Amino acid sequence: MKIPVIAAGGIADGRGMAAAFALGAAGVQVGTRFAATVESSGHEFYKQKIVEANDGATVLTYRNIVPLRAMKSPFMAQVQKEENEKGMTRERMMELHARGRERKGIFEGNWEEGELEMGQSSGLVRDIVPAGEVVRRMMEEFEEIRNRITKI
Ligand SMILES: Cc1cc2nc3c(=O)[nH]c(=O)nc-3n(C[C@H](O)[C@H](O)[C@H](O)COP(=O)(O)O)c2cc1C
Repeated sequence: MKIPVIAAGGIADGRGMAAAFALGAAGVQVGTRFAATVESSGHEFYKQKIVEANDGATVLTYRNIVPLRAMKSPFMAQVQKEENEKGMTRERMMELHARGRERKGIFEGNWEEGELEMGQSSGLVRDIVPAGEVVRRMMEEFEEIRNRITKI
């Protein structure tokens, strides 16, 4: 049986897409890049934070339960500190995230109480543009790389 592999995580431009195809992927799944587009339902604050992020702007928490990557913030620092010092249980994770953290951060732009989920690929996002423009740029970069590589 042939199972197509879709590469996901860290792909935000045509270079990442070309790398994934070179490794044998049949397609790519793109998350964070589309969260920072005009059509995205995220709050303007959240989109702006994705643009501001560099490659070290995020933190991975709840590794042994349901790994979650989000922008470093006072709330995420609190979660990380607790996890490092005491470890983390599913019950405690549910408690910490019970107050609609994602909604507050992503849809309401609440920096203090919310949580801004984004991948390390946020470091590659430089502007908020229409989703169609993201696709157009990705394809242009991808084709450019493909043409270059086939000449080697
Ligand atoms: C707003 C947002 C919500 C997400 N929610 C989930 C989720 O519920 N479960 C999950 O496994 N991953 C979630 N992710 C992580 C995506 O799986 C991840 O972004 C995807 O692998 C693509 O990687 P990329 O963001 O670097 O393109 C979320 C990412 C974003 C940006």
